[in-house]
Amino acid sequence: MSKSAPDTERELNDFYQEADQRHLIPLWKVTAQLLPAEPQTKVLPYLWKWSDLRRMANRAGDLVPIERGGERRVLGLINPGLGGKYAATHTLWAAVQIVKPGEIAPCHRHTAAAIRFIIEGDRSYTNVNGDKCMMSRGDLVLTPNWSWHDHGCESDQPMIWMDGLDLPLVGDLDAVFFEPYPTHAHPVAQINDSERKFSGPHLKPTWEKPEGRYPPLLNYKWEPTYQALKKIGEGAASPFDDVCFQYLNPHTGGPVLPTIGCYIQMIRPGIHTQAHRQVNSAVYHVFEGRGYSVINGTRFDWERGDFFVVPPWAWHEHANEGKEEAILFSIQDTPVMEALGLYREQPYQEHDGQQKVIGTFES
Ligand SMILES: [Fe+2]
Ligand SMILES: [Fe+2]
Repeated sequence: MSKSAPDTERELNDFYQEADQRHLIPLWKVTAQLLPAEPQTKVLPYLWKWSDLRRMANRAGDLVPIERGGERRVLGLINPGLGGKYAATHTLWAAVQIVKPGEIAPCHRHTAAAIRFIIEGDRSYTNVNGDKCMMSRGDLVLTPNWSWHDHGCESDQPMIWMDGLDLPLVGDLDAVFFEPYPTHAHPVAQINDSERKFSGPHLKPTWEKPEGRYPPLLNYKWEPTYQALKKIGEGAASPFDDVCFQYLNPHTGGPVLPTIGCYIQMIRPGIHTQAHRQVNSAVYHVFEGRGYSVINGTRFDWERGDFFVVPPWAWHEHANEGKEEAILFSIQDTPVMEALGLYREQPYQEHDGQQKVIGTFES
């Protein structure tokens, strides 16, 4: 005797109930959710104004001491789409940090890797495993995974920089370890040692061999970077990014860190790039100039000091309608995508490659 429809439905309901109780999920009920045709990110495009960031960083400087336990005076950018996760994108932490004259942010290490991009100030340093890297505006300084680092300010003015870390990714991998150094500051073994050895153009010392996972160059100075941008900017460049460089590890020719790619790009006056989308996420810092980006149809106007996020698989293009060059620094999780065979990009093909603007971002 065949079963009636209500019997079958009841048995199926019982089956689903038991599956739930036994911590099982029938894949056929959630296939569309787990395997969408393309990424469905929660990361939102967003922009933080420098006028707010700088004012609040300085205010934190007045209100909050740096001490063991607090470790760092840092304001992290929180993406409003991520439901309270402490992250600028699903994989990247980005922040502004301020160190005041005479301060030393105590030495520690963690399995999250970090970069600093210097926004304001001079005569400050990051000591990475004993190499005291002196920092100025526009420098990119690395503190690779599990390297000891402290920061100090020897100027009579505060220093403010951008922090970029892979902490959200390392956190999702349940691989966060942290250790304070036994004393407040790490002994200084050498000053600007990595820069002395490894910043020559296409040259590296023959006696230096790669050491484990650490990139040999820790400080990418601004002046040669800018000269390279100017030189290459005399000719044709990328249709999507205009003049854009990736910072490289001189030993491997690959990204500076396994999890974070760092880029510097110049949008020349009068350039409006074509749109494309990439599976990686990005956090941009406007180092110089002004312009705007169109992200998924919304126009984000930016000026010097601002930060903005481009989510995974979001259409984006950049424009500079002014007379001065605009320079953007960015961190991107591209190396992770490439290492795992997940990297994809796609050019926008409608409307001659540029999106129709349907709105303007307001915070
Ligand atoms: Fe740190
Ligand atoms: Fe892009």
